[in-house]
Amino acid sequence: MAELLKLDKVTRAFSDGTQQVMALSNVSFSVSEGETLAIVGPSGSGKSTLLSILGLLDRGYKGTYTISDTNAAALDNQQLAHLRNREIGWVFQNFNLISHLSVLHNVVLPMRYNREIDKRAYHQRALAVLDSVGLKDKLDAKPSQLSGGQQQRVAIARALANQPSLVLADEPTGNLDSKTGNMISELLMSLAQAGTTVIIVTHDDKVAAKCDTQIRLKDGTIAHGE
Ligand SMILES: Nc1ncnc2c1ncn2[C@@H]1O[C@H](COP(=O)(O)OP(=O)(O)O)[C@@H](O)[C@H]1O
Ligand SMILES: [Mg+2]
Repeated sequence: MAELLKLDKVTRAFSDGTQQVMALSNVSFSVSEGETLAIVGPSGSGKSTLLSILGLLDRGYKGTYTISDTNAAALDNQQLAHLRNREIGWVFQNFNLISHLSVLHNVVLPMRYNREIDKRAYHQRALAVLDSVGLKDKLDAKPSQLSGGQQQRVAIARALANQPSLVLADEPTGNLDSKTGNMISELLMSLAQAGTTVIIVTHDDKVAAKCDTQIRLKDGTIAHGE
């Protein structure tokens, strides 16, 4: 499969005024289209920092991040926003659904920022992705009326609304019981069969083991051979 993204010697330092924290140092790896990658490691090891860079939310790093043959550092804010909207879907531990919007409208939301989609196609497309996660009978429900597993499935449908090439998930099963978490991780794995690249930060070894590749972070570097 073709390469989707590549990090070359990426380093991210944070300063609190007096001290520098090296959240990531010299991190290099590449990920193919349709690959599933787990990022594991203890709290504070740099997982979320890494995900922010991969998701084009953080530009304060040194080194090179290439996504879809584009050097991310060469993009202006508008180009970054465009790439984030079209190519990247996010799934969070706390689902992050908009509480006052229905299931259907939560999934439509990312399409409203995508001028390539005709307004008249919003509902049809939202229905199709909600059907693919098994929730087409919950269109009018509000997030609070759903179980955690159902809310996470809405979040996955929302992440897929613009047919991204990359889905980033930060502890997607962290707030779910093990049976539901298993269903959610299987659903995320199934996206890769359609060619979507899936990167999951997880503390759950069972989730990590399902992925094609695992990267273990330790103090901001990739730990090998453990
Ligand atoms: N915005 C920030 N400002 C200062 N330090 C930060 C910031 N974000 C992360 N860090 C520090 O970088 C290190 C890695 O954090 P993080 O990526 O959140 O780790 P993880 O997600 O693995 O728990 C930690 O020492 C954290 O305190
Ligand atoms: Mg984190």
